Amino acid sequence: MKFFIDTANLDQIREAAALGVLDGVTTNPSLMAKEGISGKEAVLNHYRAICEIVDGDVSAEVIATDFEGMVREGEVLAALHKNIVVKVPIIEDGLKALRHFSDRGIRTNCTLIFSAGQALLAAKAGATYVSPFIGRLDDISTDGLALIEQIRVIYDNYDFETEILAASVRHTMHILHCAEIGADVMTGPLSAIKGLLKHPLTDSGLATFLADHKKAAQAVA
Ligand code: E4P
Repeated sequence: MKFFIDTANLDQIREAAALGVLDGVTTNPSLMAKEGISGKEAVLNHYRAICEIVDGDVSAEVIATDFEGMVREGEVLAALHKNIVVKVPIIEDGLKALRHFSDRGIRTNCTLIFSAGQALLAAKAGATYVSPFIGRLDDISTDGLALIEQIRVIYDNYDFETEILAASVRHTMHILHCAEIGADVMTGPLSAIKGLLKHPLTDSGLATFLADHKKAAQAVA
């Protein structure tokens, strides 16, 4: 299972990369705005900076919602760096853009997936990744993980190569359940990734080991 971090914050990306388990980054216009990044050059430079930190896929989202605009923006983004994956929303023109990019060898992440039907269309259009937003579905009392399971079955039935990128991951249990049901990738916050490390028995066990080591050293001295 690949681990992506879902942020445009360079410090958090550096911290996650230093852990040695980071495979990529996803961003979106809201995450870029949160970092105060605005204006075409600033946005492009920020993507370049992220690509310098992480040797893995970096999703960069188009803002246009018409086919020509998405193609124009996507081609600029893809030319920035070999790690860039063009993120495209699952709307009608987005579907056409996915096919356009796929036919030209430009990798894509189809975003804002909330149904299996959308995921099926994205795979047929040649998307590299699909991003079902599990946390946002959970927010409206709909089972986000059930959607991942449904897409897994459909993709396996037909050997689609599109990877399932579980997005809108909020906590450690989302990550673990996604791993159990076969999501190819998860993208989440640094807190959820680091949360997997935590166990009170690890902390108390380590404290005991260190205390015993100290006692033994004092006894010998
Ligand atoms: C996916 O790529 C999105 O950036 C993201 O996971 C959305 O998550 P949110 O629902 O926490 O905003």
